[in-house]
This record gives sequence, C-alpha cells and structure tokens, in this order.
Amino acid sequence: MKLPDGPKTPSLFQLINWIARPFKYLEECAAKYGDIYTMRLFGFPPIVFVADPQLIKEIFSNDTKYFDVGRSNEIFRPLFGDNSILLMDGSRHKKERKLLMPPFHGEKVKSYAEAIVKITEEVASSWQVNKPFIARDATQEITFKVIMQTVFGLSEGEKYQAIKPLLVEMLEASASPIKSTIIFFKFLQVDLGPWSPWGKYVSNRNKLYDLLQTEMDERRSNPNKLGNDILSLMLTATDEDGQPMSDEQLKDELMTLLSAGHETTATALAWAFYWLEKIPQVKEKLLQEIESLGENPDPIALSRLPYLTAFCQETLRIYPVVLTALARVTKEDVEIMGRKFAAETNLIPSIYSTHHREDLYPNSKEFKPERFLERQYSSYEFLPFGGGARLCLGYALATLEMKLVIATIVSQYNLELADNKAIEPMRRGGTMTPSNGVPLVMTGLRETKKADLVAGQSK
Ligand code: HEM
Repeated sequence: MKLPDGPKTPSLFQLINWIARPFKYLEECAAKYGDIYTMRLFGFPPIVFVADPQLIKEIFSNDTKYFDVGRSNEIFRPLFGDNSILLMDGSRHKKERKLLMPPFHGEKVKSYAEAIVKITEEVASSWQVNKPFIARDATQEITFKVIMQTVFGLSEGEKYQAIKPLLVEMLEASASPIKSTIIFFKFLQVDLGPWSPWGKYVSNRNKLYDLLQTEMDERRSNPNKLGNDILSLMLTATDEDGQPMSDEQLKDELMTLLSAGHETTATALAWAFYWLEKIPQVKEKLLQEIESLGENPDPIALSRLPYLTAFCQETLRIYPVVLTALARVTKEDVEIMGRKFAAETNLIPSIYSTHHREDLYPNSKEFKPERFLERQYSSYEFLPFGGGARLCLGYALATLEMKLVIATIVSQYNLELADNKAIEPMRRGGTMTPSNGVPLVMTGLRETKKADLVAGQSK
C-alpha cells in the first residue's frame, strides 16, 4: 500500500526543517500536498500528516480499535521514564487513565480555582511600574506554582525550592531549536558526565526522582500528610483489581504531569498576553465582559464567560502550543474513508494545519475570537488538546487556568507590549513558544485594583 505523496528532499533536510522552522514547513507542505502527505524525518519511520477533519474524526473515533499510540512515543521515554501514560497502549493505558483521571475531572478541577487566582495575584504583585518583564517567565512562574500546588499541595517551602530548579533546568535542556535536537537525535543522549548536556539532564532527573521518592515515603508513613492534591489521590488510588500504583509508576507519572502540565499552559498564556496587548479592541471587549460580573467575580462565573472562552480558543487555534496530536500507528492493514493504510503506518493529526484551513477559518492568520462565537467548531476542526482516547488529560485544568489567569491580570493591571519587535513562534522542545517570550511593561493599576488596595490599607 502506497503512502500518500510528500516532500522528496533527503530525510535529514526534512528533520532539520521540522525542528528549526516547523510552522513554515507545515505551511509549505500543506500548500503543495494538501490535507494529507507523508513526511520522512531522519531516524523516524515515515509519518502521514492529516489535516482533514473527516479523517481526523475517523482516527479519533477508532483510536483503540485500529491504532496504538504509546509505542510511537519512544521519544518521550528518556524524558518521562518507562511508566509514563504517554508510552502505554491498550488495556494498560485505559487502566492508567482511569487511575489518573479523577483529579483532572471537570468538577474536581473547579476546586483549584481559588488557588489559581491567589497564585496569579502573588506573582503579579512583584511587577513594578514601567519596569519591563518577560510574559513567558511570569506565566511559567504562575503555572509552575499551580502545578506544584495541585499535584503536591505544596506552595513555597523547602521541598518546593528543591524541586523547582531541577525541573526548570531539565526543561531548559530543550528550550530552543538547537537544544531541541537532543530530543530528536538519540546519539546526543549520552551521559558524558555532569558537564555534558545529557549527563546534566540525567543527574537532575535522578535527584528529582529521589525527592519524589522521599515525598511519597513521608506521606505513606504519615497519612495525616495526605491532602486534597493529585499525589495524595494517586497514592490512595487502586485499579479494578485493588492494586495501588507502584513507586516507579508514580514517579514517572509525576514527572509526566509536572512537565506536560506547566510548560504548555505557560506558553499558551504568554501568547494570550501578546494578543491582548497587540489588539486593543480585543482587550477592551474582554474587559467589558469581565467587568459586567461586578467586583470580585466568582471564578466559575468567570470561566463561563463567552468572549473570554472564545479569546482562549482563538489563542490556542492560531499558534497551537503543540503542532500535532500524538502519532497513531495502525495495528493492522486498515481502510479509512476509502484510503488503505498498511499495518505500522504512523498517522498524525496535524493541529496547526487543521487550524489554518481557509474553509474553516477564513483569513486564518488573523486573530479573531469572534469566529468561535459565530460558529460552533467540532472537536475534529478545533483540536488544541488532541482527541479520542488520548485527549489531553489536563485540558480542563489548562482551560480553567488560562481563563482565570487572564481575567485576574487584565482586570487589575494595565499592561503594554514593551517593544514593537515582531514575534514569531519558535520551537521549545515539543512546544511552540513566542520567540522572545513577549516583553511586557506594567504601566499602572486599574481602578478596581487601586480600590482593593485602599480597602486593604484602611482595615
Ligand atoms: C494549554 C495547555 C495544554 C495543551 C495545548 C496540551 C495539549 C496536549 C495534546 C495535543 C495532547 C495529545 C493528545 C492526542 O494525541 O490526542 C496532550 C496529551 C496529554 N496531556 Fe496535555 N496539554 C496541555 C496541558 C496539560 C496539562 C495541564 C496536563 C496535566 C496536568 C497535561 C497532561 C497531558 C497528558 C498526561 C497527556 C497524555 C494523555 C494520554 O496519553 O492518554 N496537559 N496534551
């Protein structure tokens, strides 16, 4: 069975394009080959990119029937360990999702709302008038604190301070297109001592795993330390056979959640602040909507606001934080919508290319939240969190977090872009981040915040 047509250039050249200029490369491929084409990336099996919503629907709907996903994720093994949900398939994956899902369930996620608002206010309170700062650093600070609070129930303190630098350094290891090569070229993953990039990574990971083990042991030996956080829920969870998660499983899953859970949301938020400050009418509309809820709005009411929701959707559409969903590998020969795919074919739903289909999103490069108010998009047309059996585990948390962070900041602070330099999307490991992190400057407090401060002082 022949694979769909695709670029004919050498596979190393295709890989370099995919690492160094993925957006442009996807656009060039879509312009030349359309909705479905095969990319050949050096060191990887051929990958069929798909940007046809009907075909994506068939893929997501038959996720477990026709496809494996975990075994196409070898790239994550050195990052998250052998027991990460990302590497699982079949009944093991299903069981693991059942174990991990409760803390991420919509209703449970709402209980994190207050913590998210409080953390946002804390981080923003350090901003000084007319002193520029990098939005992505601030949003990363917020999302890191949120994930530490939700996963471990930890805010500041010794343990928090020990975990933070290790994780930050590990994520920094792939923080630019050049550094990202460490993920794609296996031969760079050699431990040549603590000064080599991979050696440093492994040493940090070992230290982090030791800290996680200590934390788990402490909580097991002292049940009073079990709280409302995700680790506590994971420690007490059992599968249908009554089996708890093993230590190895717990540590790899914690690593997966800590990494997947804050880099992505931090990047989405940095883009959100870019668009807010770039297009004043959008900010004005958003402010009006938020202020219509009155003073100190209920976080859940905020999260239901239609324009705020549309604004977040448009942010995730135009530059999706992850360009593609995870690869689906056919378990046997299959026929989907009249197309035959041989066993072991890698199919990848292309989030970016689908989000820029002109038939779905006219003038797709234009930032326009109203699209999401004027039209209801299906989950195969708008898919920033993937879909099917692998739909992002943290999508409810990420969505709530985006809305609350944006609403809290925009209603309390006057921000502006610190300069007019063009901002391009750039690879940062597996995510696509604004090239310069979005420099912002706080020009003053909004009236509501001033009133709060005065009320606080007079108490
Ligand atoms: C804006 C933020 C985020 C974006 C854009 C995002 C995007 C994605 C995407 C595209 C996938 C692959 C889905 C597929 O292939 O169908 C995924 C999977 C996953 N995400 Fe997220 N994510 C975000 C935030 C989070 C958060 C906050 C967490 C956890 C705290 C998280 C945990 C995961 C996990 C564990 C998986 C693997 C699910 C599985 O294999 O069953 N993500 N995410």
